[in-house]
Amino acid sequence: MTLPMVVPAQDLPPRVRIHEVGARDGLQNEKSTVPTEVKAEFVRRLADAGLTTIEATSFVHPKWVPQLADAEQLFPQISGLPVDLPVLVPNERGLDRALALGARRVAVFASATESFAKANLNRTVDEALAMFEPVVGRAKAEGGHVRGYLSMCFGDPWEGAVPVAQVVRVCRALVDMGCDELSLGDTIGVATPGHVVALLTELNEAGVPTASLGVHFHDTYGQALANTLAALRHGVTTVDASAGGLGGCPYAKSATGNLATEDLVWMLRGLGIDTGVDLGRLVATSVWMADHLGRPSPSRTVRALSHQEQ
Ligand code: HMG
Ligand code: MG
Repeated sequence: MTLPMVVPAQDLPPRVRIHEVGARDGLQNEKSTVPTEVKAEFVRRLADAGLTTIEATSFVHPKWVPQLADAEQLFPQISGLPVDLPVLVPNERGLDRALALGARRVAVFASATESFAKANLNRTVDEALAMFEPVVGRAKAEGGHVRGYLSMCFGDPWEGAVPVAQVVRVCRALVDMGCDELSLGDTIGVATPGHVVALLTELNEAGVPTASLGVHFHDTYGQALANTLAALRHGVTTVDASAGGLGGCPYAKSATGNLATEDLVWMLRGLGIDTGVDLGRLVATSVWMADHLGRPSPSRTVRALSHQEQ
């Protein structure tokens, strides 16, 4: 299998933790519902490929995201794996369901814009924050780890460009309520590298350290890797990605697939940055999943490497 020549660049971290979101962000957006056993096998294969943080599913209202309505059936099938398996919980009802199954790594998901808060959570931005507050408090009291997603950090399909100050305000609120880490979502993929650095810098100035920040890029305009490199240069070491580039958001028109994990691993490998991921196994997993979904992966790296194998 072809691999990139390793040529390290200046000012980059030696290691990056990939937060794999394919099983959640990817599969929540599929038209058809993937059988629970296939999802479990997907997660097992991702773990076998060396991913150590694999977002497994969401404990949301099953009518809102029917593709993930089998969370109760799926989680026990994978909970013994030696990896972190965070799950999304929007409210205390979702947290109860997750805790009952032994999940201790949870993620709440806020919005920087009113339009998306309404579309995704049926709440205003501040009502959603109030909904998350007891979730974060209880999860922390149970010894859990809480990620706070923030969507529409760069642009919003209804409201257009999103002012950095608006994003910083909601980030601060998530940090103040006790989130251990934040994930800055470019839900519709409109960010460019200068915008990424501007947001990270403003967050630092507002007292949010880079060490607590992850980035979550969607690749709508082909900017996800450039944005990732800009974030790495700023010191970010947690990057969200989705195997095979699966993904989107059912409540945000124009949200396409996430940054493909394979494309990310290819770049990081070339830069000499350790991820612990076996690219061959990961590509094989995405080809296997693409067969189940009945269409090829949009990832350039998956296409290039799987083509070579034929
Ligand atoms: P709502 O309709 O306002 O719910 O939805 P409610 O609080 O009024 O409750 C209504 C009923 O739903 C009640 O039942 C609740 O018990 C039940 P009733 O008393 O009428 O019989 N209910 C639940 N049942 C099961 N599990 C639950 C739950 N909660 C309430 N957790 C709600 C509000 C938040 C529930 C809904 O809007 C929802 O589930 N939204 C989830 C949307 C979603 O999952 N979106 C995708 C994830 S976000 C994303 O993809 C972006 C990200 O990738 C980052 C990026 O790219 O930007 C993270
Ligand atoms: Mg997303």
